[in-house]
Amino acid sequence: MIKVLDIRIEKTTSPKEKPDANHLDFGALFTDHMFVMDYDINKGWYNPRIEPYQPLTLDPSAMVFHYGQEMFEGMKAYKGVHNEVLLFRPEKNIERTNKTNDRICIPKIDEEDMLQAIRTFVDLEKDWIPEADGTALYIRPFIIATDPYLGVRPSNTYKFMIIACPVGAYYTEGINPVKIWVETEFVRAVPGGVGEAKTGGNYAASIKAQMKAKERGYTQVLWLDGVERKFVEEVGTMNVFFKIDGEIITPELTGSILAGVTRNSVIELLNQWNQKVTERRITIDEIYEAHKEGLLEEVFGTGTAAVISPVGELNYNGNIITINNNEIGPLSQQIYDTITGIQTGAIEDTFGWTLK
Ligand code: COI
Repeated sequence: MIKVLDIRIEKTTSPKEKPDANHLDFGALFTDHMFVMDYDINKGWYNPRIEPYQPLTLDPSAMVFHYGQEMFEGMKAYKGVHNEVLLFRPEKNIERTNKTNDRICIPKIDEEDMLQAIRTFVDLEKDWIPEADGTALYIRPFIIATDPYLGVRPSNTYKFMIIACPVGAYYTEGINPVKIWVETEFVRAVPGGVGEAKTGGNYAASIKAQMKAKERGYTQVLWLDGVERKFVEEVGTMNVFFKIDGEIITPELTGSILAGVTRNSVIELLNQWNQKVTERRITIDEIYEAHKEGLLEEVFGTGTAAVISPVGELNYNGNIITINNNEIGPLSQQIYDTITGIQTGAIEDTFGWTLK
């Protein structure tokens, strides 16, 4: 590894006890350290360091608290079958970081520097990578605007940080199918908005619909487009794929949809299997019609946190669409096995996705 950043490391003197890898909640327990780097408009990014994980002291007027100028990423590190540490396509998350930064006026981060920060941090925390099936170390890089100022403009100071947590399945259902509510009242994003940026506000705006779905016994929502409310966009915190009469379809990236790393990996994997994936706009009515004709074979979500999550039921205005008898479909299972196999080194990575 070429060392560009001079990262100062202060190790904790009171390491925490590692959790039982068979009982991990998602995102509830954090490792011993955190990476921090500051930004000042006159200095650029400076003072990269790894410190014991601890609370931050911020001015109550820090801009992030008021106008939400922040971004985050999500990626995972795996303990490979030969005990090596594997990152999955980190360059994709780094590329997306700068796309998000550009959209919400956060200064870009040098890609090599960010990769070095992730690698140095994960190397220090490698004993925290759980080894049980379906587990990983979830890595959360994020940036917050820290100027103590209440005028609306880009901040002149920021903090870039990386924290991590050992995780199991994102949904309590694990790889079992989830029930999804098709949201027709609220929308997640509109053309020209920030839907394709990984910024916290998108998630804050999604909670109300998620709560509504939960009250009705559904795990997540399926978002429709923000203008006509008829085209499918995403499902909860994931991208979505449909298998209709043998054809695999996923909504095309129109600017209001997050360009998921797992989404892209699934498309490339299916292409390698000579299964064409059609990226196009698809209406919820088309999906309902396909279901009525018995042509809707499988539906699944893809995401870093959730990996592959089969959908067993969609509720569209009270119409229940049951998919594959509420069981995991063969394609979803095959994709899940292959992607997680590549991520953990159990299956040969012919794509060059994993980084040791
Ligand atoms: C991820 O899949 O990494 C995400 O960012 C979703 C997150 C909100 C849990």
